[in-house]
Amino acid sequence: MNPRWFVLAAFAAVSVHGAEPAPLYLDASQPLEARVEDLLARLTLEEKISLIHADSKFTTAAIPRLRIPRRWLSDGPHGVREDVGPDSWAPAGRTDDFSTAMPAGVCLAATWNPELGFSEGEAIGQEARWRGKDIMLGPGVNIQRTPLGGRNFEYCGEDPFLSSRMAVGYIRGEQSQDVASCVKHFALNNQEFQRGSINVEVDERALREIYLPAFRAAVQEAGVWSVMGAYNQFRGRHCCENDYLLNHILKGEWNFRGLVVSDWGGAHNTTECALNGLDLEMGTDAGYDHFYLAQPYLKRIQSGELPVAGLDDKVRRNLRVMFATHVFDPERKPGSFNSPAHQSVARRVAEEGIILLKNENQLLPLVPARLKSIAVIGENATRLQAHGGDSSGIKADYEITPLQGLLNRFGRDVNLTFSEGYRKNGRPDLVERAVAAAQAADVVIYIGGLNHDKGLDCEGADRKDLKLPYGQDALIQKLVAANPKLIVVLEGTAVEMDLWLDRVPAVLQAWYPGMEGGNALTAVLLGEVNPSGKLPATFPKILSDSPAHALQAYPGANGSVTYAEGLLVGYRWFDTKHLEPQFPFGFGLSCTTFQYANLKLLPGDGSNQIVTAQFDLKNTGARAGAEVAQLYVHQDQPSLPRPDKELKGFAKILLQPGEKRTVSMPLNRTAFAFYVPAQAGWVAEKDNFKIFIGSSSRDLRLHDNFHLAATQSFQ
Ligand code: BGC
Repeated sequence: MNPRWFVLAAFAAVSVHGAEPAPLYLDASQPLEARVEDLLARLTLEEKISLIHADSKFTTAAIPRLRIPRRWLSDGPHGVREDVGPDSWAPAGRTDDFSTAMPAGVCLAATWNPELGFSEGEAIGQEARWRGKDIMLGPGVNIQRTPLGGRNFEYCGEDPFLSSRMAVGYIRGEQSQDVASCVKHFALNNQEFQRGSINVEVDERALREIYLPAFRAAVQEAGVWSVMGAYNQFRGRHCCENDYLLNHILKGEWNFRGLVVSDWGGAHNTTECALNGLDLEMGTDAGYDHFYLAQPYLKRIQSGELPVAGLDDKVRRNLRVMFATHVFDPERKPGSFNSPAHQSVARRVAEEGIILLKNENQLLPLVPARLKSIAVIGENATRLQAHGGDSSGIKADYEITPLQGLLNRFGRDVNLTFSEGYRKNGRPDLVERAVAAAQAADVVIYIGGLNHDKGLDCEGADRKDLKLPYGQDALIQKLVAANPKLIVVLEGTAVEMDLWLDRVPAVLQAWYPGMEGGNALTAVLLGEVNPSGKLPATFPKILSDSPAHALQAYPGANGSVTYAEGLLVGYRWFDTKHLEPQFPFGFGLSCTTFQYANLKLLPGDGSNQIVTAQFDLKNTGARAGAEVAQLYVHQDQPSLPRPDKELKGFAKILLQPGEKRTVSMPLNRTAFAFYVPAQAGWVAEKDNFKIFIGSSSRDLRLHDNFHLAATQSFQ
């Protein structure tokens, strides 16, 4: 039995047998708020203080007198991280913390499947419980503002609607397991460059329409129990001590009842932390008693400088999260670890998140019977990626690399060779050997792209440019000259492909596909899985096409960055400015074809639902496949400028060959609204709108006009 439950169960038993009445807060049948108040009233001032700051890298102190256990927080979005510390970032050296490594967040977003998000959250929640964790530090929902962002791989792409849907699915799944999710990083942590200090200036509309919606959905739809303040500053104040973000918006407007935790080392000042909305301080570079919310806070309360009511609010929020996740209750879910079910979730996310970007002459799927030899080339074919990237890295129970995945499927009748081709500081003979291998094979599978080295897809720094590293552009050009049957598989986030894309017949975007990645990739290459992933962010042709770079509004100067592009992030910029991206938002090919027909706009149900778009989707090809049908809204004459169109609905639908389904997408007033700073609220204006249905943001198949008869204003 988990020692913590033993203590609680023993305590409950004593109470039942009459030694003393069980305190109300230990009675799971009592209302949550009553339990919070009961326990709060029993705490001394010092005990309260001990609940709002760390006592190790990832824990807060226990209070044995009141049976309050030590609370464990843990990264992160992609699984339960290995234990570190207790007082340093060095691995704790345990042997029981090899866990299920899910694909990176951007791969989950690329599935466009919130139900799969639920399954991933649920699996991570179960592993968290098994490992004794109480608060899981994910999901990450910062909007991809620049393709160079060092943590883009952890996030859900460039669109607030897609990010919201994926975050809600994930959080609901995770929190169903009696563990709190922690949505991060609130807010505007869109670059790693100077992340601890950079001040972000962004206009109110972009803040509300682009950067906050996923957090709001996490709070109001998923009921997330914790929010992590970001490292950066916003309008001159650090985000962990930002009155406007934390008190005004999060706790005021959105009525968030849970706790705000600092990013590790994100707190800077006792009074600001005390007054401006921080509830739990972690990772400060000082002895735990010297944290801003430890002794310095206690002293200011004792001297009357700061009110005790502020402390009580923080403690209430911490206790509320403990009760909500059944920390005190013997029936708390016990979790499970490294189960086949979790591995299968990891595999499904990878299978649905891998994107087919190009496929000329039906080079894919491969038909093994027609192949005698395959040359696998590229360092990422054998590189273990799950552990990298910093805080989101996972000590994987196992990791199937792409090469291993291929070896698992190809028997002795196919001659499969491997050649590294490139390497950091690699020698020219690597290239020569790879070219020779390519020449000798029927088909070449190149597996390259990025990795989690600092300066690529890794926390703490952004990329310097959008180029493939280690001479890969030149290598790919030589390989395709040697053998035109070249399939390029890219791990990592977006890269420029302009130097070779026109000559390479097939390209797959595999992100970081997690511990089952090699199996998933092989299933896609062989056609056992028909690709269904879609880009959650625009891939520009060249970096300078993307908005923050076109406007030279990255990475800022003199410690401050102004988001000059405002609302025009990602496809909103490319569409509004009529720029051709390399691959547009929402794009991804399938090995079957889909036909869209019969769009009808049906009246809403009289509540918030204004109109329902209904259309037929048919699989017109020979293979089963899933399509992500996307709905975009355009307003004809808005009173304030709006992006050309915006994603407001999507559905992922699996269809057998020849199968047709009628798809319905209900739209409520938020689908038509934009934020009006002068009214400090949202307005859906009386106007004509166009509703587009398509297979990507640039492949719109159906449209119809919709007239909104009366203006609606709301919060
Ligand atoms: C990261 C957070 C992470 C925390 C704890 C910070 O450096 O920004 O995302 O949860 O460390 O590891």
